[in-house]
Amino acid sequence: MVLSDVFFLALCVAHLPVSTFTLPFEQKVFMDFGMDANEEGLMMRDVEYGSAMEELPPVEPTCPFGCSCVNMVVQCSDLHLYYVPMEIPRDTKLLDLQNNVISELGENDFKGLSNLDTLVLVNNQIARIHPRAFLPLHNVQKLYISHNLLTAIPKNLPSSLLELRINENRIKRKKLGSINNVIYANMIFCLSEMGQNPIQSSGFEHGAFHGLTLNYLRISDAKLTAIPKNLPESLQELHLENNLIQAIEPYDLSHYSNLVRLGLGHNRIRTIDHGSLVYLYNLRELHLNNNRLSGVPTGLPYMPNLQVVYLHGNNISKIEVNDFCSDSSGVMTTSYSGISLFSNPVKYWEVDPSAFRCVNNAMGVQFGNARK
Ligand SMILES: *[C@@H]1O[C@H](CO)[C@@H](O)[C@H](O)[C@H]1NC(C)=O
Repeated sequence: MVLSDVFFLALCVAHLPVSTFTLPFEQKVFMDFGMDANEEGLMMRDVEYGSAMEELPPVEPTCPFGCSCVNMVVQCSDLHLYYVPMEIPRDTKLLDLQNNVISELGENDFKGLSNLDTLVLVNNQIARIHPRAFLPLHNVQKLYISHNLLTAIPKNLPSSLLELRINENRIKRKKLGSINNVIYANMIFCLSEMGQNPIQSSGFEHGAFHGLTLNYLRISDAKLTAIPKNLPESLQELHLENNLIQAIEPYDLSHYSNLVRLGLGHNRIRTIDHGSLVYLYNLRELHLNNNRLSGVPTGLPYMPNLQVVYLHGNNISKIEVNDFCSDSSGVMTTSYSGISLFSNPVKYWEVDPSAFRCVNNAMGVQFGNARK
């Protein structure tokens, strides 16, 4: 569980600029081949261009013109393609079409590609997707379609899908309703980094996520002003960094008790109401860095699984002896591996060291000077 958390976090969290987008696995194959392909691709173009083309014997296995195909990875990025190329080998596992000018996905574009597990369509101009376009992809697990012109979540996403990245499109808040009736078990829904999708309020349409069993959701750079209330209860990771959230109110987190990681960094949080963290008894990591907190939130000592708290970059000027650790020995108490407090106005030499008596790691508290 921990391992897979870390893995998905790594996949989803990074804000990768489009031009340097790479996949986190088989990167070597990917890159090495890309380099070979440039030379060979150009040479082939010179040879094939002209009347001799039809006389050439068919090349086995096939590979779309200009693309490179090796080890079931088909690499067709940066080719100024207007369409998904034909003749994609049927055993392809990874199809990379990023950085082209594809505007539409047709019904038969992915026909026969039942072996595909990763489809990369990042940074095209896709505005329309045929409702049956993804149906042949029985085994696709990752669909990266960020940086396009979509106005709604695509219909009929394959039920095998584990991760959808669809940030930087033109999806309006009310269009989120269109994923209503679909259940993707354990889907990692990086809807997310939902950045630049113009969701400008705290709430999603009621039931926008109804029926979804998500365990990861990331909605950042979306101008949220409060914690959304109708997200799936199944969530284990919720990332809401880089929004405009100002407060956490008593019941904001009440049905997210499955959360293991909560990311609220880089918001404008000034107040966390007393008792609002009490529901998070599974939480291991709490990220509240770079907000406007003037004190440590209450309730931390009673979060039995809490291990890591980021509070750096706030306006905390005072730390009380029981802010982090419980004062009564009978109560199940937190045992931290890391607390970050640097970039706060608190004078660390004035803090009672026993405030950190339940930190299990000598290097676990990062103080340092206020970086201002
Ligand atoms: C930081 O806290 C102090 C009081 O401790 C307050 O006077 C000040 O306005 C706060 N600064 C910000 C940026 O909120």
